[in-house]
Amino acid sequence: MTDTMHSDLNPYAPGSGRKPPELSGRDAEINAFDLTIARTRKRNSSRGMVLLGLRGVGKTVLLKRFQQMAERAEWLIVEIEGTTADDGALAVRHRLARALTSAGAKFNRVASAKASLTDALSSISSFSLSVAGVSVGLGVEPNPTRANSGRIEVDLEELIADLAPALRANSTALGIFVDEMQDLDSELLSALLTVQHKAGQNDWPFFVVGAGLPSLPAILSSSKSYAERLFDYRTLGALDADRARDAVTLPAERLSVRFSSAAADEIVEAAEGYPYFLQTFAMKAWDSAIGKTIELTDAVSGIADGRLDLDMGFYPARWDRATPAERRYLVVMAQHPGGECTTSELALALDSTQQRLSTIRQGLIRKGLIYARERGTVAFTVPGMSSFVERQREVLDDLPKK
Ligand SMILES: Nc1ncnc2c1ncn2[C@@H]1O[C@H](COP(=O)(O)OP(=O)(O)O)[C@@H](O)[C@H]1O
Ligand SMILES: [Mg+2]
Repeated sequence: MTDTMHSDLNPYAPGSGRKPPELSGRDAEINAFDLTIARTRKRNSSRGMVLLGLRGVGKTVLLKRFQQMAERAEWLIVEIEGTTADDGALAVRHRLARALTSAGAKFNRVASAKASLTDALSSISSFSLSVAGVSVGLGVEPNPTRANSGRIEVDLEELIADLAPALRANSTALGIFVDEMQDLDSELLSALLTVQHKAGQNDWPFFVVGAGLPSLPAILSSSKSYAERLFDYRTLGALDADRARDAVTLPAERLSVRFSSAAADEIVEAAEGYPYFLQTFAMKAWDSAIGKTIELTDAVSGIADGRLDLDMGFYPARWDRATPAERRYLVVMAQHPGGECTTSELALALDSTQQRLSTIRQGLIRKGLIYARERGTVAFTVPGMSSFVERQREVLDDLPKK
């Protein structure tokens, strides 16, 4: 190898859900989840965990890490994702039924304590049939009296109740990992909360582990008032300067490439500690560099390239989905610091009523561009969206008056 930098060795991974080369600054969360796994092994109970934060802070990759840890501990794993698509509710039920079935099949192969496993498997069969209309090959007949009401709340509870003894006997657990949890349909959401609640009361080794926007706790609480006590809520934010620096410099060091101190500082500062931006800028800085040291000039041009990339991809991925009316709404939001404002401020600025604007607001929430920070307020789901929207002002022909 010559001493020129090679793009094919570039370790950085900007992109939604892409595993970062260094998962920096999440030790507290990882240790907490590790404890849950250790307690489960000793047949002690714990709460489920919910990760909260804006888009691009690293919820999905941390959730995946938890899932890997659970897999290594031989938990049964079910992975689902909330969606606002029209057929989303049905699709996620299919996915749930399929994932439970394959988890059940795997459990059947590895479980050392087989007691009551047959019952559990036949409950999974009836669950699949009743909830998703799918008949599954677990080698057992669907249980004619369990998990077959067609009401997901009842059926899921019966299924977990039937599975719990076998899980406990094997010192393991069932984990349902839910990404974009704020977008789960209310029926399935309430079913998961109910079962998590029952699991706590009955010591069933069952965990919902979720990730979602900061509006999620309010959504959960309005589904079930006890939701607040059900989970260990963890808010993920930007990384502090040291952890952000690690995220940038450690992956390079492993490949014998150094960031000059000024270069690392420049990237950390430009990214404001946001993982998505750190990955983007570090990747571009690497590509700009020639020798084995990434210098300040490489960082500066990497950041500029990175910003272009974000303006071509990260932000438009959302902006492009907005209707003209929704864009006007966003432009007005962007005139407030961080886009945070109240719906009454918006109504005033757009010369409309809160009621008329609520369709627009709902549309933008459904498309994942904004969220209700608290009652009567909105904010952008993506860091830096506010300045991006400001930059789009000139391309809008029909601008609202300031
Ligand atoms: N702790 C971290 N340290 C460094 N990079 C991270 C970290 N967490 C996430 N990333 C990177 O940030 C980006 C966004 O991560 P993702 O999990 O998709 O965020 P979210 O689900 O919150 O939108 C990805 O490119 C990922 O590699
Ligand atoms: Mg995500």
